[in-house]
Amino acid sequence: MKLSVIGSGYVGTTIAACFAELGHDAVNVDIDEAVVNSINDGRAPIHEPGLEALLEKHGGKSLTATTDYDDLLETDITFLALPTPSKEDGSIDTSIIEAAAETLGDTLREKAGDHVAVTKSTVIPTTTTETLAPILADTSGKQLGEDLHVAMNPEFLREGTAVEDFQNPDKVVFGSDSETAINTLQEIFEPLTKASNATVVETGVEEAEMIKYANNAFLASKVSLINDIGNICKEFGVDAYEVADAIGLDNRIGERFLRSGLGWGGSCFGKDTNAIIHAAKETGYEPAMLDAAVAVNDRQPERLLSLLDDHIDVESERVAVLGLAFKPGTDDVRDSRAIPVINGLQERGVNVAAYDPVAAENMRTHFPDIEYTDAPQDALAGASACVVCTDWDEFAVLDEEFDAMETRVVVDGRRIIERRDGLTYEGLTW
Ligand code: UGA
Repeated sequence: MKLSVIGSGYVGTTIAACFAELGHDAVNVDIDEAVVNSINDGRAPIHEPGLEALLEKHGGKSLTATTDYDDLLETDITFLALPTPSKEDGSIDTSIIEAAAETLGDTLREKAGDHVAVTKSTVIPTTTTETLAPILADTSGKQLGEDLHVAMNPEFLREGTAVEDFQNPDKVVFGSDSETAINTLQEIFEPLTKASNATVVETGVEEAEMIKYANNAFLASKVSLINDIGNICKEFGVDAYEVADAIGLDNRIGERFLRSGLGWGGSCFGKDTNAIIHAAKETGYEPAMLDAAVAVNDRQPERLLSLLDDHIDVESERVAVLGLAFKPGTDDVRDSRAIPVINGLQERGVNVAAYDPVAAENMRTHFPDIEYTDAPQDALAGASACVVCTDWDEFAVLDEEFDAMETRVVVDGRRIIERRDGLTYEGLTW
């Protein structure tokens, strides 16, 4: 099948490359020429494990990137994989995807026959049918349900494992009331659904839009719930990880996403949870659970800092911050819990010495004036305390590096350092 993807961000590039790997001809449209050239040269424009190999194999061959929308005229279906960033009030800004829909529609004026347009971006329910579909119909001159078909196909790709997540999904969701759209999506995903155990969910457009929000809001809330329980555990001197391991054995709870600590960050959980909370409130409904999930998450960094305050007055002291990325395996610092932790340290008059194996450069835009070190031991040397914000494996093997600290106080937000003699160790929830 010939398909097109508008947008070459981490979702757009990943799905275009994975579709090519499934045996399709994929056209990836983006405004950024450098990104387009990189894909055509078989080089990944972003770091995502497995992507480089797929682009090397298909880039410039069955996967072509272009800045020219006319190149999608040869395709049967277009996925809109554009960003929907947060506005100040938490709602999403749909101007980028609306502009893309307009250009897609204008382009489709030249095309005879059916075309399917699929929302891949995360959008509030009714955006596809009430905002994007009318734009597409107006600009293309096509008739919805006749030669123009819309659908919503949400993504569940995690940063750092996006290719693997695409290739081994738990579920694939097709939201549409058009038989043509559903059939086209089934055909595209058939090699994947045949080879994997993925359940195919066929549903309405709005349900598909909501499934994406519900998925992320549920996972974010699960982490906040285990953090709430973990905070209670800490008060009673109970090990929250032993508790989590035991409750995770109950199939109704499940063992994943039960790691308590500093909380969630990244480009999706906060953005999506806030967006669905905002949308709910606009209808007059107060989503108390989701509000609480955000509140618990906002509180964890301050809890970590107050544990530090219990041990040492850090004013004018050097404090090592180990881990800046929002999770291990990425250099992404968007909404990283390290940001409020460093803010809190700076409010306390601390000299921050920060280390992360890959994310220091990105953190420089938030904190240009703190010290960044090339190795964890350099951050620890002479420090009066250390706080751990990301569970990088390399922190688990630190040992005599702590000997170079002025005072050996470690407050671990991610349960990655082992308790040991000679170390004053505080786990955030254990
Ligand atoms: C998340 C979802 O997991 C994906 O399914 C979704 O497609 C994606 O958002 C998106 O909407 O694009 P991602 O943001 O890459 O993926 O990160 P996760 O691996 O889910 O981790 C999110 C945060 O939760 C991290 O800060 C992590 O440290 C934290 N977390 C996760 C915990 O604190 N405890 C846990 O037990 C699990």
